[in-house]
Amino acid sequence: MSKGQAEIKTFFRSRLLAWYKHHGRLLPWRETTDPYRIWISEIMLQQTRVDTVIPYYKRFLKRFPDVFALARAPLQDVLKTWENLGYYSRARHLHAAAGIIVGRFGGRIPDTPEDIRTLPGIGDYTAGAILSIAYGRAVPAVDGNVRRILSRVFAIDRPVNDPRGQKHFFELAASLVPGKRASDFNQALMDLGATICRAKNPDCGVCPLASICLARRGGLQNDLPVSRKSPAIPHRQAVAAVVRNGKGLLLVVQRQAEGLLASLWKLPGGFVQDDENREAGLRRCVKEELGLSIRVGKKIASADHAYTHFRVTLHVYQGFPLSGKPTARGCQDWRWAAAADLKKLPLSRIDRMAVALVEISPVRFP
Ligand code: ADE
Repeated sequence: MSKGQAEIKTFFRSRLLAWYKHHGRLLPWRETTDPYRIWISEIMLQQTRVDTVIPYYKRFLKRFPDVFALARAPLQDVLKTWENLGYYSRARHLHAAAGIIVGRFGGRIPDTPEDIRTLPGIGDYTAGAILSIAYGRAVPAVDGNVRRILSRVFAIDRPVNDPRGQKHFFELAASLVPGKRASDFNQALMDLGATICRAKNPDCGVCPLASICLARRGGLQNDLPVSRKSPAIPHRQAVAAVVRNGKGLLLVVQRQAEGLLASLWKLPGGFVQDDENREAGLRRCVKEELGLSIRVGKKIASADHAYTHFRVTLHVYQGFPLSGKPTARGCQDWRWAAAADLKKLPLSRIDRMAVALVEISPVRFP
């Protein structure tokens, strides 16, 4: 490394840390050094914005104040506390990891990269964030925000979303993390990316790194970082049936333990295949799921939702049982639910929306 480069890195560190001291955000997980709380915050902050996470973080810790409470709790309670935060595999992984932390690590969140990476739900970024924030280890925590900052300050036009580009950014970040104050350094980068070096309209006028930023010098801040084009997101059609019994209770099913939204509850139904119409798709799905033949009635409502890799429109229809009794064939469980039961069960956002639409719909059932 040339002398100039070493000086720039020293300047980068000291300016960023000085800025953080005065401008770092006051966040609930920054008021603690408890590795459990920091672990929970970092899992919630994967894919979710700070403002959304705060109330969930507080509620979660009231309900599960330590790793022992989390390990003891039924998964359904954890999923319920997570409801609407999305990416539910995070909650399942947290619960499984709590069991491992209690069973294998005596209740202490691991403090080495090797051990912490064995836990479900912890990748390189989260491992780096927890180890630096909870234990002060000098390791980087590199996500999209950090890559964006580095790509601009050092004018790097390697794609931020391919493995070779990512390795390059990781090594650069590792060379920047200071031996002391790694926690502040990593969190300063997170704050800089969230508040100043934003993806759109970066606020270069107040950036502590503006004087060394090569993108700013070349007027390239809106052209960096570079991403490889990702394929178009498919749009899938899903169908669900509103089936009630003689007492007006609603038929709901629990999804399988693996796969999309695993173990959450929903209306019976599923995805429509390319070669079938919606009604036929709904009859097939309900048969596969519950062994139940239904007649499909009127459409009640539809709702849209976007996941990471696809978008979905869910069409909700009336369904009338023709033959067979519900049995858990292609689902974990099923039940006839009253409105009060539905409130207690964990449902994904789109399924909660579907149920809400059903509850307010004027359709009468036999
Ligand atoms: N995003 C991920 N981890 C974070 C943290 N500790 N503070 C703020 N934003 C974050």
